[in-house]
Amino acid sequence: MQSSVDPKMIVYFDGHYVPLAEARVGILTHALHYGTGVFEGIRAHWDEEQQELFVMRPVEHYERWKQNCGILRIDVPLSAEELNEISLELMRRNAFRTNVYVRPLAYKSAERIGVSCDEQDSFALIALPFGDYLPTDRGLHAGVSSWRRIDDNAIPARGKICGAYVNSALASDEAHRCGFDDAIFLNESGHVAEGAACNIFMVRKGKLITPSVTENVLEGITRDAVMELARRELGLEVVERPIDRSELYVCDELFFTGTAVGIAPVTQVDHRLVKDGVIGVITRELQKVYFDATRGHLQAYLNWLKPVYKSGMKDEQGHRVPAEMIAG
Ligand SMILES: Cc1ncc(COP(=O)(O)O)c(C=O)c1O
Repeated sequence: MQSSVDPKMIVYFDGHYVPLAEARVGILTHALHYGTGVFEGIRAHWDEEQQELFVMRPVEHYERWKQNCGILRIDVPLSAEELNEISLELMRRNAFRTNVYVRPLAYKSAERIGVSCDEQDSFALIALPFGDYLPTDRGLHAGVSSWRRIDDNAIPARGKICGAYVNSALASDEAHRCGFDDAIFLNESGHVAEGAACNIFMVRKGKLITPSVTENVLEGITRDAVMELARRELGLEVVERPIDRSELYVCDELFFTGTAVGIAPVTQVDHRLVKDGVIGVITRELQKVYFDATRGHLQAYLNWLKPVYKSGMKDEQGHRVPAEMIAG
């Protein structure tokens, strides 16, 4: 769990950089009553050696956010690149020198009663220091939830829509109360979908397998990165296909992926050990290569990263120096 947040921390709210304590919404705000918001989650990792904070695929995250906002007809009137610039500036203003989580949130902001939507939209960007969301250095015990993953024709799971996270909250709360570290959702067809706030992968017979994007899952950017790393760095065959619940009980390795989570090994499901109950070799290798890629240690994946501090450097005339022009 994260510690409390500094109310003096700077956030971007209604077009201004303001202290968190001043970023307030009214009690009648549409999104608060009806869940009509869309959020995003972006990670920046601090690298002590390079004294740099690297943001992981931020422009893709903002593009996904803007697309998802379109599902609810919320307009975010800036480009993905402009949004990225604001969140870089936010991290610089807060002088973060630790791992950070960026939370963009766009929402229906009219203050009135009535579920139908109008054109009144607002958005905020919040960046805060953030450690591990789930433990990644030990195996987790996950429980298959009695709650089913919400269907695309009810509320699209790919949309990161605020109201849809009641589904995740119910599953995760149930899992914790039953003594599990987290939940695994099945979808309405009974196949494995994902975790409460993360995607899921299993290793079976040397192949890396994950549910396809039409199984009512979020189309994870970490999921995508892990598939690429598995293929390119580990030479693994990666398969997207339906996964039966019982395959969770007979697979060789299992892990969750996500922006907040990173790669979190699962070594027990429903009181059954995954293989021999220790973190698998492929999971460990992927954790290592993902760690290196997200901290700017691997040349091949530098294009995934935006450096926070280098991106803010100015030349003698006070103009921003593009990060790619700065040596080192
Ligand atoms: C339901 C759900 N699935 C999967 C993910 C992982 O997606 P990403 O890797 O893009 O963070 C998240 C996290 O954002 C999530 O909330």
